[in-house]
Amino acid sequence: MLAGLTVAALAQESTNDSFWDDPAGHPLLPVYAIILLVFITAILTAVVGIYLIKILNLLATQAEHEKARKLGKVYVPKITWWSALVQKLNASVPVAEEKNIELDHNYDGIRELDNHLPPWWKWLFWGTIGWSAIYLFVFHLSKSLPLSEAEYQHEIALAEEQARKLKASQPVTAIDEAALEFTNDVTLIEKGKVVFMNNNCGSCHRNDGGGNTIGPNLTDDYWLHGGDIKNIFATIKNGAIEKGMPAWGKAMKPEDLRDVTFFVMSLKGSNPQNAKAPQGDLFKPAPEKSDTTDVQASL
Ligand code: HEC
Repeated sequence: MLAGLTVAALAQESTNDSFWDDPAGHPLLPVYAIILLVFITAILTAVVGIYLIKILNLLATQAEHEKARKLGKVYVPKITWWSALVQKLNASVPVAEEKNIELDHNYDGIRELDNHLPPWWKWLFWGTIGWSAIYLFVFHLSKSLPLSEAEYQHEIALAEEQARKLKASQPVTAIDEAALEFTNDVTLIEKGKVVFMNNNCGSCHRNDGGGNTIGPNLTDDYWLHGGDIKNIFATIKNGAIEKGMPAWGKAMKPEDLRDVTFFVMSLKGSNPQNAKAPQGDLFKPAPEKSDTTDVQASL
């Protein structure tokens, strides 16, 4: 217990991290490993030792038997320290002496013995009382070890700190219609094309975006829900469910929504054959902003 307390105290002092947060990188790992190794070796040695002693005992008893038989004497088993200990721990009354502790009631031949609690049980009982004193002192009076509640709070604080670090290390750019700007980025548009194909947008809009009986033409300048990037993104995200356009916001990652929006925008003016007639209002893009550095910084 002393060794355990020392190690625990050391661990508390040397680092704020709990051992299980990063076992491999913990500074006390070698110490713990050695303790574990010693522990395992001790147990194995004890097991082997006990078996050896048992075998030796058996051989010795056999020899004694043999000796007694040769001398024509009755073999009397020696009282070993072990059998003495077992006797002391149990203090059971031998069957031959049970008459002495018999209580004088008898139910249909079932008699009761006035046996005392075995000493091992009583020692255990006193032991728990002693342990409770140690516990009280360590956890409540000297407060040298934290209670479960404090341990819990500590773990939570650690986890929150880790989550905070993780968040800080990978700032998320919110992708929504409010902050979205079109970038003519070929890789994003290519990704958007894959999203378009994988989600069968073409089943309603045709793979070239020309439109069919269900979905409108996505390549012309006429839009039912607005042709600005923010409008297109919002239409794809929220859908026009009563008109047959599903809402993709729940099914797709924001990045995919953005990329497929870019792809749809890149279709503009591609003039596929047999495209569907324009629907909705003509959309004229606002004049290009001369300064885009703000936008770049905010993305
Ligand atoms: C089940 C058929 C269907 C599927 C699949 C579908 N759409 Fe649509 N989509 C429509 C319909 C119908 C409309 C027109 C809604 C209306 O009339 O208001 C539409 C409208 C749109 C619009 C707005 C067009 C405008 O004129 O304002 C965009 C952009 C669009 N879809 C993109 C997509 C993308 C991207 C996908 C795949 C992720 C997709 N659609 C999948 C049926 C579909």
